[in-house]
Amino acid sequence: MRVCVVGLGYCGLATAAGLCQIGHEVIGVDVDSEKVAALKRAEVMIHEPGVAAVLNEAGPSGRLRFSTDLTEALHAVQVCFLCVGTPSLPDGLADLRQVETAARAVGAAMNGELVVVNKSTVPVGTARRIRDLITQQTKERFAVISNPEFLREGQALNDVLHPERIVIGSSEEWAIKLLLRLYEPFNCPKFLMSPESAELAKYAANGFLAAKISFINEIAQICECVGANVLDVARVMGADSRIGPYFLEAGLGYGGSCFPKDTRALQGIAGQHHHDFSLLEAVIEVNARQRQRFARRVLEKLKASAGTRVAVWGLTFKAGTDDLRESAAVDVIKILAVAGLRIYAYDPTVKRPPPGPWWSDRVSVVAGPLEAVTEADALLLLTAWPEFHDIDFNEVKRRMKTPMIFDGRNFLADRQLEKFGFTYVGVGLGRVV
Ligand code: UDX
Repeated sequence: MRVCVVGLGYCGLATAAGLCQIGHEVIGVDVDSEKVAALKRAEVMIHEPGVAAVLNEAGPSGRLRFSTDLTEALHAVQVCFLCVGTPSLPDGLADLRQVETAARAVGAAMNGELVVVNKSTVPVGTARRIRDLITQQTKERFAVISNPEFLREGQALNDVLHPERIVIGSSEEWAIKLLLRLYEPFNCPKFLMSPESAELAKYAANGFLAAKISFINEIAQICECVGANVLDVARVMGADSRIGPYFLEAGLGYGGSCFPKDTRALQGIAGQHHHDFSLLEAVIEVNARQRQRFARRVLEKLKASAGTRVAVWGLTFKAGTDDLRESAAVDVIKILAVAGLRIYAYDPTVKRPPPGPWWSDRVSVVAGPLEAVTEADALLLLTAWPEFHDIDFNEVKRRMKTPMIFDGRNFLADRQLEKFGFTYVGVGLGRVV
């Protein structure tokens, strides 16, 4: 099938590459001409494993093309995916300007029957809004389907190719049949429902995942009061098939371009309907507190003063991505820099300090983990990059001024670093005085 994908961020690009992989002919469209030019050269600007390989393999065959011209791109296309951004507005609600602009543009450019499939995470009712906007632009037959994505950054192509479920929100039989034909190669449950249910299901899924994280972070606090170990407690919880072992890793909490945005948007939706979603409110508050608690503990234990030097391993919001958006690591660094500490940070994918105000002149990004720890009064592990686990900690100790490690992800807990002579401080790993 000939398919158009509008919006070539990590969701759109992974979707375009994945649909091409399963045999469709795909045209990716974006308003950013530089991004389109780079993609035409098979240069992928985002950190998504496997996407560049698809571009290199499919490019010469013409099965995966890129353009800034939507009219040309929509020629003879049956399905058009909207994968544009929905960032947070100041009140937490999703900013729909990109979605509305894309919908109007598709309506104006379409030249034949079309199924418009919205993948962007949007407030309930947006599919109907998109339909109204397109109706103003065209007399052609079309339908709008809500088809939320469940892609994780750093694994987006894998998640496109191996979905655990496909959600199709529409009442238009002809359009549903066409989309089911497009998704035929995927052997997973396909849930048909109203657009409203599909749109809310995405927020509910992310809100619940965020709640799991904030819950285990609260349990970690209790562990530090009673002398329990959150890793053991999480193992017991996760062995229950109704809970499951995932998303029970205590630490600095969640960041990224989705959970923070989607929990605020869901809170906004509840507020619009005068529902006091107090549970979600607590999830958001706990998450914000977690990184503040960690930074405060570092300052207290270090009896930090201006010029105290700390090494930081990890800046991104999680391992496997180069994304700094709402990264807990960056939030911790901001608090320490504002307190006057000198920070030497290493991250496998970050080559310069995160953009920031005056405090950022206290943050240097160095080329390696051992360079970061040289002469350091403490080492902070803030992102669980695999390479940090097997580093030679005898060498780390030799280089540090004070052998003290604060592990914001409990990532080194099994290395038993006390045996190397370190003071090791995790999150929820027993009583903390
Ligand atoms: C998430 C959802 O997983 C995905 O389904 C949705 O489509 C987009 O949002 P993503 O934001 O890429 O994906 O990252 P994810 O792997 O879910 O991690 C989110 C954050 O939670 C990261 O900051 C991670 O460090 C944190 N996290 C995750 C925890 O703190 N503890 C955990 O146990 C798991």
